[in-house]
Amino acid sequence: MRDAVHTPAGPPVIGNVSRFVDDPLRVLTGVQEAYGGQYPMVRLDPAVGQRFTVVLDPTLVHEILADRDRFRRPAVGPEAQRRQGLVSSDGMLWEQQRSVLQPEFVGGKLSTYADIASETVEEMLAAWPERGTLDLHEELSVLTMRVITQSLFSQDTDRERASAVHDAMGTFSEEFEPSLTDVVLPERLQTGPSEEFEAADEVIEGVAREFVDWHQRQEDPPEDMITALIEAKADPSIELSENELIDEAVLFMTGGQETTALTITYAFHWLSKHPEIRERVAEEAQSVLGGDPPGWGDLSELTYTERVVRETLRLTPAVWSLSREVRSGTELAGTALEDGELLFMSPYAHHRDSRVWNDPRTFRPDRWDGEVSRGIDSYFPFGSGPRVCIGKQIALTEAQFTLAHVLQEFDVVVEREQLDLQPSVTLRPSGPVEATVTARGE
Ligand code: HEM
Repeated sequence: MRDAVHTPAGPPVIGNVSRFVDDPLRVLTGVQEAYGGQYPMVRLDPAVGQRFTVVLDPTLVHEILADRDRFRRPAVGPEAQRRQGLVSSDGMLWEQQRSVLQPEFVGGKLSTYADIASETVEEMLAAWPERGTLDLHEELSVLTMRVITQSLFSQDTDRERASAVHDAMGTFSEEFEPSLTDVVLPERLQTGPSEEFEAADEVIEGVAREFVDWHQRQEDPPEDMITALIEAKADPSIELSENELIDEAVLFMTGGQETTALTITYAFHWLSKHPEIRERVAEEAQSVLGGDPPGWGDLSELTYTERVVRETLRLTPAVWSLSREVRSGTELAGTALEDGELLFMSPYAHHRDSRVWNDPRTFRPDRWDGEVSRGIDSYFPFGSGPRVCIGKQIALTEAQFTLAHVLQEFDVVVEREQLDLQPSVTLRPSGPVEATVTARGE
């Protein structure tokens, strides 16, 4: 591999940035395919505005994600809308928040969350028609919202509120689609948030505030994430304000719910394109679960379903791009980086690199049966290093359980051939994802 950064020629002034903004997935996969293996990084250099660099070498991706001293996670969106929480915090604040929250994501808590997921899927299926059509993405958003709030906030969410959060997430997503002005104009010249965005933000904040208020009213609050945060707020050695407490609840509720719902939706999309794989998941579910809802002990037995989830996260990673900002001038792979330079690392592009993956665009869960190593560097749907996704295990369990549980009882076929993916903060399908569901034995 050559040790220089490469800058492909592009149109004047705006450089390749305009191509990136038009179709980021295409540019990132194209650049990975054309220059990966030759150059560790490629710069899409506009003459004005933000300089940004795409990291092609997977070893460098992990080096960057491991090094919080040299690289920081940049804030997303205009300053006035930024929420303070684990996802967005930095330095000491991040360390404190991560150590307060980490105990909520380990040990016995995980099996409790698994039971919650199983019961909530059971309730969702009980409300499905014997045969009918539904918006699968919305249905799964309601499901994952109910699972996340019962798991971390000890309270269920009714359908109306969960649907309102799903709609609000759609509005956020439109607002955060990459735009040329965001990339080339300094922040002070960018337009503020739209009215729709502000209304969506209020909906989500209102829901999160109700959960926090409920905890504050309890004499003996449940041992959960919000209680851990309320206790941390009372500890003078930890910096956490009332607003940050609400922000944290918002970020967990939305981040945890949306990514998982998208992953399960995409799994059903792939299974609809491959009926033989869908039948194998259903057969495994029937043989492992024997007609019962899944429990924590079944997880390690649902091996084929696990491969389906891995493969879904490879081809359609809900977090399609990670970014880091250079804290102060530094060198990487022999190349000087500027202060504030943005580094892009795209799981979507790395997961499709033909130098790494055989037949990369084909959905083939069995590649995870020994053909590729589970620790492969070119696979990072949950990031890596100290800021790796804190909810990874919850998400994987919920996805595996939901697929097995649903397919044991229903056949599910997504109608649309193509989902028309829109890369925003997450990778979302455009419009509703209609699916026909048919109870087994019908
Ligand atoms: C399939 C579902 C999910 C995917 C694909 C996903 C993906 C990711 C990725 C790629 C990162 C790292 C971002 C970076 O380094 O810039 C991340 C971080 C994070 N995720 Fe997830 N996530 C999922 C589910 C969840 C769930 C269920 C929760 C909450 C229960 C959650 C909470 C978080 C938080 C709080 C962080 C920030 C961690 C930190 O900075 O210390 N995620 N996620």
